[in-house]
Amino acid sequence: MKKFFITTAIDYANGSPHLGHAYEKVLSDVVARFRRLMGDEVWFLTGVDEHGQKVQQSARAKGVEPQEFVDGIAGLFRELCTTLEISNDDFIRTTEERHKRVVRDTLQRLYDKGEIYKAEYKGYYSTRQEQFLQEKDRSPDGSWPDIFGEVVEITEANYFFKLRAYQDWLVEHIRSNENFILPRYRAKQVLEFLSEPLNDLCISRPKERLEWGIPLPFDADFVTYVWFDALLNYYSAVAERGDAWPADYHVIGKDILVPPHAVYWPIMLKAAGIEPPRSLLVHGWWSINGARMSKSTGNFVDPIPFATQYGPDALRYFLIREMSVGQDSDFSLQQFLARYNAELANNLGNLVNRTLNMTNRFSGGVVPERVVDEEPEHELRGLWEKTRVEAIRLAEEFQFHIALERTFAFVTATNAYIEKRAPWKLGKSTDARDAALLRTSIATMAEALRLGVTLLAPVMPGTHARVLALLGVEATGTWREQLEWGSSVTGASVGQTAILFPKPTSA
Ligand code: MSP
Repeated sequence: MKKFFITTAIDYANGSPHLGHAYEKVLSDVVARFRRLMGDEVWFLTGVDEHGQKVQQSARAKGVEPQEFVDGIAGLFRELCTTLEISNDDFIRTTEERHKRVVRDTLQRLYDKGEIYKAEYKGYYSTRQEQFLQEKDRSPDGSWPDIFGEVVEITEANYFFKLRAYQDWLVEHIRSNENFILPRYRAKQVLEFLSEPLNDLCISRPKERLEWGIPLPFDADFVTYVWFDALLNYYSAVAERGDAWPADYHVIGKDILVPPHAVYWPIMLKAAGIEPPRSLLVHGWWSINGARMSKSTGNFVDPIPFATQYGPDALRYFLIREMSVGQDSDFSLQQFLARYNAELANNLGNLVNRTLNMTNRFSGGVVPERVVDEEPEHELRGLWEKTRVEAIRLAEEFQFHIALERTFAFVTATNAYIEKRAPWKLGKSTDARDAALLRTSIATMAEALRLGVTLLAPVMPGTHARVLALLGVEATGTWREQLEWGSSVTGASVGQTAILFPKPTSA
């Protein structure tokens, strides 16, 4: 059976992880966990992009060899995945032999087919930045900005990949596969780009300018252009598996849609005779405090210590709740703490506390049976049925932020139900009907809590596990079965009071 294959972009190994990297991993992880719970066999890939000019420069600046440099950075990205509880099945590094082999084989195959040719390339070259410049790099007055240093016009031999030959095929492919680019409105930007004739793609760099890359198999004086190398990670990681390709989703940021993922990548595959991926899922960008994130100005959030301080689920929740997939969003500590306090600590945390406290106080720590079924119970159950169906539909449409909103509305309604039944008052009464209502209200809040955290499992896996353990129940059966209102918590022995989301001290 083909696995449901989902990937993130592979992050440049020229600096440490930031919030944007964290978001992309969490978003992909939420999709991966959701699909697994829905019954798919998932294969989830992430990794790092380790070759190219930027990495070579960063390593030189530190005075270390590129390999030593990327080994350190790769370790940080792995740590990011562990800290955020990312459920990836594989982690690829483009310096691994399994990857380099596929890059060499693909290049050789394309070269043998006549898809790659050698030609002279003429252009303006910045020796300081070690890069070719384009017309758009000029200042408004036509001069070259100072950051480029001396700019000279040079002619250089290089290898080119015949992109243009596949332009019509690509336009047709995008038009006839409406799920190829998601959200769909992003396809417009790609088709606009394709309305102009494509240039063939320069896929080599002379070794004398750039050493840190994969040598071309047919000319050892050149290394492979980093994007041609990096894109192939998606295929090289599963080339030997046979049960994963084509990718179902490549999750990427909006900056790398055009041209790499929407133009180079499908054409590379088409030319090599490999099936294209099914969908590119394109997300927006995070700013911080309304401005572009930047380590040098200090407008930066290091996701590893942040998730360690507030808990991985709190950061995962915020990132998914605050951003509508495809749109941009802003991160601020103030907004994070507002959601943390109101939604996690007060709303969900309160429900957990009340459930444990009431069960311990009035029922000897054992969840009782529901014996009454009246308007308040009906209402809550009715809301659950709606919430469950809608949350799944929304998740299938990547509207996770709304799915979370609905799920938390159910948590709010459960707290309101508790206020209405007021078990603390019922517990003082000696009346038989009050005793029945007390048992019912405790059983109902426990079941509602179990259901709520089960629905939150893709976004908050740690909270889900912790609350089930506190309720003394295990998740059995399919996820859909677990999401059915029932009585599986009756008879369970609950834990003592626990604070899931402690009030932050730094607020
Ligand atoms: N190495 C390339 C991708 C190669 S994929 C074959 C690259 N790396 S990156 O480190 O610059 O970016 C990795 C991912 O993080 C990209 O999808 C990018 O869009 C995403 N983000 C980088 N900054 C971001 C934000 N500020 N906000 C959200 N995502 C951002 O591009």
